[in-house]
Amino acid sequence: MAELEQLVELCRKLGAPPGQAATMAAQLQKRATQLAGERGVAREAAMKYLLEVLVKGRHGEISADNLPDRPTPSMREKIVALFHATYGRAPEIITRAPGRIEFIGNHTDYNGGTVLGAAIDRGVWVALARRADGQRLFFSDQAGEVVALPAGSAPIKLEGPQSWVNYPQGVLAALPAFGLRVPAGFDYAAVSDLPIGAGLSSSAAIELASGLAFLEATDQHPSRETLVGIGKHAENNFVGVPCGILDQGVSGFGRKDHLVFIDCRGPRFATVPLPAEAHFWIFNTHTKHALVDGLYAARHRECMEAAKALGVSLLADVSPPALARGAAGLSPVALKRAKHIVEEIARVDATMRALQSGDLAATGQLLTASHRSSQHLFENSTPELDFLVDALVALPQVHGARLTGGGFGGAVMALTGPAFGEAQAANVADAYAGKFRNRPDVLHALTGNGAERIAPDSQP
Ligand code: GLA
Repeated sequence: MAELEQLVELCRKLGAPPGQAATMAAQLQKRATQLAGERGVAREAAMKYLLEVLVKGRHGEISADNLPDRPTPSMREKIVALFHATYGRAPEIITRAPGRIEFIGNHTDYNGGTVLGAAIDRGVWVALARRADGQRLFFSDQAGEVVALPAGSAPIKLEGPQSWVNYPQGVLAALPAFGLRVPAGFDYAAVSDLPIGAGLSSSAAIELASGLAFLEATDQHPSRETLVGIGKHAENNFVGVPCGILDQGVSGFGRKDHLVFIDCRGPRFATVPLPAEAHFWIFNTHTKHALVDGLYAARHRECMEAAKALGVSLLADVSPPALARGAAGLSPVALKRAKHIVEEIARVDATMRALQSGDLAATGQLLTASHRSSQHLFENSTPELDFLVDALVALPQVHGARLTGGGFGGAVMALTGPAFGEAQAANVADAYAGKFRNRPDVLHALTGNGAERIAPDSQP
């Protein structure tokens, strides 16, 4: 008897109401697969554990607390286990791409300016094996349901719980625009250790990890610039967000203990060493403005209109004195938006100089100035983000703090010295919880390398 039928039978025997045994059985299968991936154990072991829990009649949510202890699996072990549990075979290709911190250069990227970011040591891992039957199967540890799409048909935008597949699909749709071939059928799995919705750009990470996997599967090896361009193309044209190059550029060019500098007009990428005593702390508020996508697009539009009114194609072409001269021709709102961008680009230059001389105090002041400009001129901050920045910059171990990413909710990033630790972070989180009745997640983020292929049999 197939596993599903056996489970349906068991659920019936255990007293599942009529008509619900099949649903319960399917949930058990899904949970076993997830649990196997999360714990890095064989799916059979996870299923055995779940059945014991069920048969012994324990109440409450099925948890993994009583699974035999194993060392926390590495991400490579997790993706291999998840792939095996889902597809019953080993992957041929494994790739990973990191999330990113926006260090400074807020909304400067699509205005043709400069920006600094850091790849972190967390990200999205993708595993893939080719199939001969022309089916493309997608599975993620976050979604728990295999999505099957025939390779022959044009990519279609999915909604609801399947919408994560739009990222790899967007990459498939982008490849021909770069003169590249798309893989035919394959089994695909993704796992992530990036906090979701923390403004650390899990979307760029899945785009780049997917892009690299699809290129490996078709034995194509374009430049890193092309890989980054493919990710951005997917985001702009398939997912539908008019973002700039920051997220994909940092995920592609990241380097441990370095920042990534991007001159977005080229685009041109470089890495800048980060002083060893610099630390990043991320405070994720879990708040998100209901209209965040629309507000991002609105800022994009306002910037383009301001550039047009100033007689240039992009705001990066406007110097601070030129903006002062053209100010009378702008509406008050357009002037505020333009001032943020023009001054923010100048702050990126100043940050480069401060970093070159190892001056973290000056760097931190520039980060905080960037936040104040978001708060008052670009108006993409929120009371929650402002509260965190105020609380952080009041501490002597903090060099500076700012919102990171698009804004309108999300996360604050603090640049600190080594004396800032869990205790200080907890105090800030407590103060926030006292005011907003919701505790932010705190992450001490370490820098990491950019997108890469991992040999399936390499050590973690
Ligand atoms: C988001 C976008 C980036 C960039 C930032 C703001 O993260 O994806 O391209 O515009 O916002 O700087």
